[in-house]
Amino acid sequence: MLRINRVRTRGRYSAKVLHVEKMLNTLHRFWLHVLLLHALMANISGEDCFSNQKLPDRLSFLGTKLDLSHCNITRLHTTTFQKYLNLQVLDLSYNALEELDFSVFQFHTVLQKLDISHNKLRTINCTTLQYIRGVTHLNMSYNHFETTFLCKEFATLRNLKHLGLNVTKIERYDFMSIAHQKLETVFLGLEYLQQYESGSLQLLNSKMLHVVLPQTLTDSALLLYDDFNITTTLEISNIQCEETCNDMIRHINMVIQKSKVSKLILSNIKMSWPEISKILQISWRSTVEHLSIYMFILVKEFDYLHIDFSEGSLKSLTIENVIPQVFLHGSYKHPLNIFSEMFVENLTISNAEITHLPCPPRPNIFRSLILSNNKITDEIFAQCVTLANIQFLSFQNNILDRLSYVTSMTSTMKSLKHLDVSGNRLYCDFSTRCEWSQSLLVLNISRNKITDSIFNCLPPNLEVLDLSNNQLSSVNKEIGNLKALKELYLSLNQLSHIPDCSHLSKNLMYLNIDENLIHSPSKEQLTNCQNVEKILAGKNKYQCNCELKPFIGTAEILHENLIGWPQSFMCEYPEELKGVILRDFYPSEISCNVFILIGIIVGTLVVLLIIMFFLCKHFDLPWYIRMIFQWLRRKYKVRNSYHDEIMTGKRFHAFISYSQEDSEWVKNSLIPNLEKGDNSIKICHHERDFIPGKTIVENIINCIEKSFKSIFVLSPNFIQSEWCHYELYFAQHSLFGKNSDNLILILLDSIPQYLIPNKYSKLKAIMKHRTYMEWPKEKGKHGLFWANLREAIQTNNPLEGEEVSLFN
Ligand SMILES: *[C@@H]1O[C@H](CO)[C@@H](O)[C@H](O)[C@H]1NC(C)=O
Ligand SMILES: *[C@@H]1O[C@H](CO)[C@@H](O)[C@H](O)[C@H]1NC(C)=O
Repeated sequence: MLRINRVRTRGRYSAKVLHVEKMLNTLHRFWLHVLLLHALMANISGEDCFSNQKLPDRLSFLGTKLDLSHCNITRLHTTTFQKYLNLQVLDLSYNALEELDFSVFQFHTVLQKLDISHNKLRTINCTTLQYIRGVTHLNMSYNHFETTFLCKEFATLRNLKHLGLNVTKIERYDFMSIAHQKLETVFLGLEYLQQYESGSLQLLNSKMLHVVLPQTLTDSALLLYDDFNITTTLEISNIQCEETCNDMIRHINMVIQKSKVSKLILSNIKMSWPEISKILQISWRSTVEHLSIYMFILVKEFDYLHIDFSEGSLKSLTIENVIPQVFLHGSYKHPLNIFSEMFVENLTISNAEITHLPCPPRPNIFRSLILSNNKITDEIFAQCVTLANIQFLSFQNNILDRLSYVTSMTSTMKSLKHLDVSGNRLYCDFSTRCEWSQSLLVLNISRNKITDSIFNCLPPNLEVLDLSNNQLSSVNKEIGNLKALKELYLSLNQLSHIPDCSHLSKNLMYLNIDENLIHSPSKEQLTNCQNVEKILAGKNKYQCNCELKPFIGTAEILHENLIGWPQSFMCEYPEELKGVILRDFYPSEISCNVFILIGIIVGTLVVLLIIMFFLCKHFDLPWYIRMIFQWLRRKYKVRNSYHDEIMTGKRFHAFISYSQEDSEWVKNSLIPNLEKGDNSIKICHHERDFIPGKTIVENIINCIEKSFKSIFVLSPNFIQSEWCHYELYFAQHSLFGKNSDNLILILLDSIPQYLIPNKYSKLKAIMKHRTYMEWPKEKGKHGLFWANLREAIQTNNPLEGEEVSLFN
């Protein structure tokens, strides 16, 4: 019942706690709301950022940047951002703003980047543009602007470098206000352009222009014929060729021919191979040096076309993110041969689902070839001798398997400096041959399945080696053969030790062994590496115990070389120290020093011994021990002794013999204490139990014979008394033969051996061989003495006439 009650009380208690917690939570949230409302939202309608609690996070990087995108904000007011005077970057994109008065930023003289794209703005208050005159980035694209809005006040934005707009109608002098401005990038979203007055864009003055073309090019195509005043880069997006694309191709070719850009980017396009190759052909001999095509849906068929892509102006071609929706035509040559035959310095075909690239038929000028994120297999460039100029080759994120194929592939590339085969499935399959291009300086084999045998086969002149995220368990001595090695990346492997830097190149400047299984590094391992400028060894499985102390000490000294010290060096074991930063781990001096430990143990023992000594000295411990021992022995004996004697005719438990001088003690202490109340012990006291008419000797003998035991109170007096000797003599004779335990000796006063005359050799022998009980002088010990004595007297033998005896 009580239990149930208690449980119930506890239940109620926790319910209360919960309730309080809930209240606090609510209060906390409420308070946050109040704070936030005060802070900046007082005038922003739109509760999304409160309810989904995005805002607290965003507030945490207060000061210079504020991301309020996707907050469903509809209006801003003058007081809104007053608190954030240091605001440099403000993102208000993807909200529901309908109008904007820039005076809300009047206190923000440092505001540099303002993004108000993807709102519902129809107009802006031009007179207030002066309040953001410091901005360098202004993105106003994807709003609902209808009319011309680049009002003359835009001229006040003197620092403007990057401008983003979206328009449906462009007239001749729309860009007049920013015509004098030297811009870096201009983005023009013209998806819904309906009207374009030719020549309008010529006013723009920017290094880069990104135009998103209208869905349908009708009159608006005129804009492509404008003589853009663009200095370097032109990006044209949204070229969708559904059925035929001839018009579009013509327009783009026009742009390429007329513009003076050196970099042309075509993005978000959908074309067939013959169409794109027309664009390629035109670009090949134009001002364009770099052509990038990305987000490219390749449609219809993909067939080999013989096009002359011999040397032209184009230096680099990048084709990225291709979605092929094509049939391969079973022609005599694989269509990818088009690329192998190209004479272009740098070719990138990335994320295009290609499985190979044919070896160029003639010596090629490729200097950089990037075929990352494809499905390239081991057969690539096998025995290909035409890539002698290649310097940088990347097969990042493909499905290469056998490292020996990769090595022999490079052996013919006499200029290869940098090879990236990271993110494949490469494993070491060397038998005897190990051929690498001797010119290789940088080798990236990270994220593969490389094991320790790699160290037997590495290009000898390497300066940078990335083997991170593999299956290495130790660093072989052979790595010392790389005499020029400067950077070694070994993170995310299974190394259990810091590599021995004395074997490594003297030029090593950077060593990364983050995230391995290093648990107990030694001080020496670290000091060996002290010439390495940067060592990264964080996030390992450090075992925090005494052995780690020297390492920690050395790490503190070498902290300038140790990147990430102390915060990324944490204990992993033991469990209770997990997450503790190594520098904050202080094992106690005692647990770490053997000498101190031994000292403490010895010290404790000594103290114990001293305590024992004092106990013995002061409280006579040995006496207690002896007493208890005797008592125990007796108990044991009583239990085990087999009574084969005939115990008849006994009327007393014990007879006492003592000297007359000790009678005082016997009568006042011994007898009263033995015959205490319960009559359990009967004593034959010759003075009391004497049978009149008999001689003293007869009485004594009678007494002895009628008692189980005889107690002798020994003292110097006893030695002096003749009687006592008789008694002892009798007792010995009557009792010894039967049960030697029946003699109890009490030493009342110590008897020096010399006091015992020689004629009492018997007594001497008895005292020597039998244990006797010493009468303690201290009162405190008396209790135990009596108990012990009574135990000695009490036998299992019943007295005659009492109880039924087994031995009768
Ligand atoms: C071509 O690649 C090489 C090697 O990566 C590089 O140094 C060079 O700048 C690149 N050239 C062009 C035109 O992109
Ligand atoms: C190796 O390639 C990975 C990408 O796969 C890259 O993150 C890493 O920085 C490269 N290593 C070096 C040393 O450049």
